Amino acid sequence: MTIMSIDVSPIIKIERTQHSRINEVDFNNLPFGQEMTDHMFVCDFKEDKWQQPQIVPYQNISLDPSSKIFHYGQSIFEGMKAYKDDNGKILLFRPLDNQKRINISAKRLAIPELPEEYFMEGLKTLIKLDSDWIPTTEGSSLYIRPFIFATGNGLHASPSDEYKFIIACSPSGAYFGGKVKVLIEQKFSRSANGGVGYAKAGGNYAGQFYPTNLAIEKGYQQVIWTDDTTHQYIEEAGAMNIFIRIGDTLITAPTSDRILDGITRKSIIELAKDEGIKVDIRNISINEVVEASEIGTLKEMFGAGTAAIISPISGFGFQGKDYDLPEFENTYASLLRKRITDIQYNRTEDKFGWRVEIK
Ligand SMILES: Cc1ncc(COP(=O)(O)O)c(C=O)c1O
Repeated sequence: MTIMSIDVSPIIKIERTQHSRINEVDFNNLPFGQEMTDHMFVCDFKEDKWQQPQIVPYQNISLDPSSKIFHYGQSIFEGMKAYKDDNGKILLFRPLDNQKRINISAKRLAIPELPEEYFMEGLKTLIKLDSDWIPTTEGSSLYIRPFIFATGNGLHASPSDEYKFIIACSPSGAYFGGKVKVLIEQKFSRSANGGVGYAKAGGNYAGQFYPTNLAIEKGYQQVIWTDDTTHQYIEEAGAMNIFIRIGDTLITAPTSDRILDGITRKSIIELAKDEGIKVDIRNISINEVVEASEIGTLKEMFGAGTAAIISPISGFGFQGKDYDLPEFENTYASLLRKRITDIQYNRTEDKFGWRVEIK
């Protein structure tokens, strides 16, 4: 790829692409995470420190086959979005929480932590450079994927001495997944006490694919994960946190070793409380949910995460029986989705201070 210009910001070296691909992309038909923007942020860790950060044209990377990422899975990531409001302002949603969480994941996977300014400055500079890629159709956004993986060579099962931190971005259309039918999983576990479930480690997701495929074969779209010890308590919905409404109370499991501390989850908890909704953060058993369904007090279940924001559940399967959730208007799911997206797209005041404008 030819270089048009090179300039140096206080910490980031920028190499711009000469051939933008933006006109090759159909912004009216954007599948999630398929198209990548023109540039990526890259920073290497070697000789015991994070090196000069750079922004370069989006490109392939070349690794030695003995790189530790291929063998021992030292790989972590984040998922976040940039939004454009009606006046073209660029906004991030709680980015410092992603910055903190990537370091929580890094620590657990024995990956060196990233200085805050590398994450935040990298993010802001990259998004400004590729800001024309932020889609503006209703509900669309720029999905941002920061990730770190082990690039050190050698087959010894030990932490790598070299890593690469990359931020890549993908314009994404509105996510209308529709309601999902879920299977409550009682054999496989997503995570375990003392494990890495609370980290966004690549391997956590690899381990979910097989049980999810089995659920899909049975006619469900997603798996509800239960605790690894008793399989009696509901923990997460696929790669999302879960909320269950019984009567007028919204219930979600407490975070733990096994559950990712989702930014959407904690925003929903605050917004629900702000709406006067009673929120219980406690363990919730399958028996309680089944009983509530049988007596008609189970009103809603939904997943919560950055990609879909809120993903309503239409029903669940448990021990060979299917349970349907009621259909009605004015759900907590639709109310809370509106509250959170109105803040993200700058359509309302942000009394929590969650928005960060990129200027
Ligand atoms: C396992 C898991 N739980 C929950 C979430 C939701 O987290 P967030 O709201 O920060 O996207 C995600 C997605 O990032 C996830 O991978």
